[in-house]
Amino acid sequence: MSLSEHSIDDAKATALAAIASAASLEELKEIKVAHIGDRSPIARANQQLGTLSPEERASFGKIIGQAKNAIAAAFEARNFLLEEERDARVLVEERVDVTIPAKRTLKGGLHPLTILTNEICDLFLGLGYRVAEGPELEAEWLNFDALNLPEDHPARTMQDTFFIEPLDSHLVLRTHTSPVQVRTMLEEKPPIYVICPGRTYRADELDATHTPVFSQVEGLVIDKGITMADLKGTLDHFARSIFGSDVKTRLRSSFFPFTEPSAEVDFFFNGRWIEWGGCGMVNPKVLIACGIDPDIYSGFAFGMGLERTLMVRHGITDMHDIVEGDVRFSQSFGLGVK
Ligand code: PHE
Repeated sequence: MSLSEHSIDDAKATALAAIASAASLEELKEIKVAHIGDRSPIARANQQLGTLSPEERASFGKIIGQAKNAIAAAFEARNFLLEEERDARVLVEERVDVTIPAKRTLKGGLHPLTILTNEICDLFLGLGYRVAEGPELEAEWLNFDALNLPEDHPARTMQDTFFIEPLDSHLVLRTHTSPVQVRTMLEEKPPIYVICPGRTYRADELDATHTPVFSQVEGLVIDKGITMADLKGTLDHFARSIFGSDVKTRLRSSFFPFTEPSAEVDFFFNGRWIEWGGCGMVNPKVLIACGIDPDIYSGFAFGMGLERTLMVRHGITDMHDIVEGDVRFSQSFGLGVK
């Protein structure tokens, strides 16, 4: 190409037109190579400057320089515009809708009975009690004898108790959590404040209100000067925490071999009295069996069924729902199943 003002104007016009028509950053990049790069017409014109006379070199140099500047400025302007367009487009195309509900994997959760157990333990921990647990396969002596349940007591017949073969192992599936109290009294010196949750067993058929495997929570306090008023106050607080602040309790006289006097505790809920569990002052014979001097210490104990507590509180009418393990039951509580 011979160097002329016209050819330079031409190259500049072609470059500017190409830049103006670039529809994308990719296209613009190719245009840069063709019209600005080392082998572009304008670059080649620049290379020819060396062959010219000094006067011509000065005037063409000026023309070429202006053309180059104009092309470079047009390129920058177009590049800026296309980048802005791209950024705006990416914001729209790659938009994440954070309000769309996420897919959730079921992780499982705590059974409502477990949640109730934890709630009760928390309540008593707050009162300064300790949680005590023991084995479900229990020594007959701890489940019965130490609790002043003599050999011929009806609760020891085959009808109620799951005995473990061989019978001379003297092991039973514990029929209540009271042996945990015995274990605690044997191991610790008063003052004792414990709450004992756990699974218990009795040879009942599963029906709407019974289950052979059930849960109890039992409380035991041994200290100096403990009276039945302490028991009543504790049960009132317990009932109000579980069933509502306006709930009342009453004691009805009853019999348990391990408490003297003994009572059934009822609570008034939704317009009626509901039987909740057993309680009483720990029988001095039990204190003696556990090595505690009844002339110095006294105490109370109470025990209630957790299934029954859960059923009353939540209006559950069929025990099957609690024991069958259908996750929909737990989910209906909205408790813990994520
Ligand atoms: N252990 C008794 C039962 O299972 C309940 C109870 C506990 C009664 C403590 C009195 C004191 O029926």
